[in-house]
Amino acid sequence: MIDSNTYSERRNCFLEKLTGTAAVIPAASLVPHHADCDYPFRQNSDFWYLTGLDEPDAVALFLPHRPLGEQFILFVLPKEPGAEVWNGFRWGVEGAVERFGADIAHPLGEFQSKLGDYLKGAEGIAFRIGKHPKIEPIVLQVWTEQLDQAQRNGYSSKFLVPPCPLIHQLRILKQPQELERMRETAQISAEAHELARQHTRPGMNERQVQAIIEQYFLEKGARGPAYGSIVAGGDNACVLHYTSNNAPLLDGDLLLIDAGCSLVDYYNGDITRTFPINGRFTGEQKALYEVVLEAQQSAIDSVVPGQNAESVHLTAVRVLVEGLLDLGLLKGSVDSLIAQGAYRHLYMHRTGHWLGLDVHDVGAYRLGEYPVELESGMVLTVEPGIYVSDRLPVPIGQPEIADRWKGIGIRIEDDVVVSGGTPEILTAGAVKSVEELQR
Ligand code: GLY
Ligand code: MN
Ligand code: MN
Repeated sequence: MIDSNTYSERRNCFLEKLTGTAAVIPAASLVPHHADCDYPFRQNSDFWYLTGLDEPDAVALFLPHRPLGEQFILFVLPKEPGAEVWNGFRWGVEGAVERFGADIAHPLGEFQSKLGDYLKGAEGIAFRIGKHPKIEPIVLQVWTEQLDQAQRNGYSSKFLVPPCPLIHQLRILKQPQELERMRETAQISAEAHELARQHTRPGMNERQVQAIIEQYFLEKGARGPAYGSIVAGGDNACVLHYTSNNAPLLDGDLLLIDAGCSLVDYYNGDITRTFPINGRFTGEQKALYEVVLEAQQSAIDSVVPGQNAESVHLTAVRVLVEGLLDLGLLKGSVDSLIAQGAYRHLYMHRTGHWLGLDVHDVGAYRLGEYPVELESGMVLTVEPGIYVSDRLPVPIGQPEIADRWKGIGIRIEDDVVVSGGTPEILTAGAVKSVEELQR
């Protein structure tokens, strides 16, 4: 697990980046599911990254304009037996200081009355507008009062800025302890995929395979799935965000599983594997699978410092287009097909995303005109695919697709760490060669 020194180091880095700006970082709130029932609590990842406190409605202040010992303030739900008997343990004000390293802590009910004093002397306020409906009116009211009184007091914060770019510059580079957690989540996720494949047989329902995977996540101590598991037999695999997972698995079809677990400290795995339900690829399935696998391998090989997410994507696209040309599913020159996007009825998504506390993790892909270069310690997914169905029209000038290809949806996704040398594939425990997937 991430230790308290690491949280403290993160806060110090954030405080340094803030220079004279005070940051207000709220925790997540519970979200109603229906009637009196809430969704399971999911902490805001920025708040979690800086505090490690897994309770709703808290607020953290970061005050670089104050002396040492008054720079990290937590407002938390107070200890309250009547509430804890219904909803469970709270750390309370004392726990916020002793366990979570706050310099000073207060009950949440004092946030409105104390915020003005804490913000006094800050050059600006770092707060994300539009995301925190309970906290935003209080921050705006306190700033408005400061502005109204500035003529007499001689100061007020001069600007409101989003804190996210500063926190996300930190989060995009994983610390050694974070990489350990990501190895763990990737390993459990990979083992779940292996188990699911070994138990898959024609006649089962997608939902039964989902159960095998998610049971394994829980058995291994994970919080559960990192996102809605996709268990998609046959043509269902051509629906990118298919999550209904309620169809029978047919002899002769492929099964695409996109699933990963979230650990109790929110580090996420994100793996896709596609394999034949009956253990034997058909000729068309194997031909397309080999194209996707080659595209993925080439793209993974390009995950090195100095490359960027766009160049990794283009590496995959080039191999996919070459393979589809060879199979007669596209026609023309590779360069013009890529320039015109004339392959997008068969491959319509990007090849990956940053991965961390969020599955689609934070961090810029571009800064203005410039793509963000890959650096050691970044983690991204590499997930090319081919999806052959009638859902999108064939572009003018491209070949109509014979029925024998239709209903084949393939994606192969691994989680990859940028390292100084060869990229580290965190999810290598889930096999993917044609030979290993057949039985
Ligand atoms: N499972 C979501 C994704 O692969 O991006
Ligand atoms: Mn995925
Ligand atoms: Mn992904």
